[in-house]
Amino acid sequence: MKGIILAAGAGTRLYPVSMPISKVLLPVYDKPMVYYPLSNLMMGGIRDILVITNEEDDPKFRKLLGDGSQFGVHIDYLIQYVPKGISDAFIIAEEWIDGDDVALVLGDNIFCGPEMQSLIRSAIEENEGATVFGYRVDDPERFGVVEFDADMNAISIEEKPKKPKSNYAVVGLYFYDGKACGLAKTLVPSDRGELEITDLNIKYMEEGRLKVKLLGDDVRWLDAGTFDSLLEAGNFIKDVQTRTVKNVGCPEEIALKNGFVTKEEVIERISKFKDNSYQIYVKGICGIDTLKTEQSKNGIL
Ligand code: DAU
Repeated sequence: MKGIILAAGAGTRLYPVSMPISKVLLPVYDKPMVYYPLSNLMMGGIRDILVITNEEDDPKFRKLLGDGSQFGVHIDYLIQYVPKGISDAFIIAEEWIDGDDVALVLGDNIFCGPEMQSLIRSAIEENEGATVFGYRVDDPERFGVVEFDADMNAISIEEKPKKPKSNYAVVGLYFYDGKACGLAKTLVPSDRGELEITDLNIKYMEEGRLKVKLLGDDVRWLDAGTFDSLLEAGNFIKDVQTRTVKNVGCPEEIALKNGFVTKEEVIERISKFKDNSYQIYVKGICGIDTLKTEQSKNGIL
């Protein structure tokens, strides 16, 4: 399966902060936001990754992520010139996808929880058609909302409904078979002028090929696209990292765990960073105790 990170869009909800820079490059605590969706794709074992950006931010994403080799993945880039909607990703990327199965993750979606890796892996392995995730929220009117029948089959999905039929938001992590591009091309713009991802999911639902899995209590999902949720995401990541002494959304760590890179490769790259907590953490997972190294250099040990 290939993976797409959608990181274009106007980002006006975060103006003036996102005027000079994509919101997906803004920090969520100690990492650029894009590290989190990138990590989710990598957790699923996905190594062929496309980042869709707007024209202005394309060089900035390339500077940050390069060709992906530092994480043992391959990253390509394409531009969305006009924010025509999330499903437009499948029209822009049709040639790149080349008929393969594809995961799409929204650049401002952050997932955290010990179960994430196995949820993503099973979604990839079991997908027949489309697989999406539902997450219980208090403010469903902000999202795509899925309604279930008594057997938990999805019976309707509505984009930002004024009167939501459930409290389950469809989160921004989607898995599709090779038909996604063809179906995306049949969509018409919604009232707000966008090719909605909800409409693509409805197509799969109408064909009886949409699976909606629920994210349980041990997973935290945040759409970091507003001032409050961006701050909440940063605070949440800081709390989790402080409590567990483990980083969330660290591509070097996932690359190592998945055998995409060797410790030596990670150490070589990370040594170019100035000493900071991110570098110390990554060195630590490579077995280098930075504190001891410094102490021995200074003759303390
Ligand atoms: O976060 C989950 C929600 O994401 C879903 O529940 C909704 O069904 C889905 O429509 C979407 O709603 P949002 O209103 O949050 O989408 P937003 O416009 O914020 O775009 C999400 C990301 O996709 C953001 O990082 C920008 C990017 N994007 C968006 C559009 C419309 C693009 O790259 N191009 C676009 O044309």
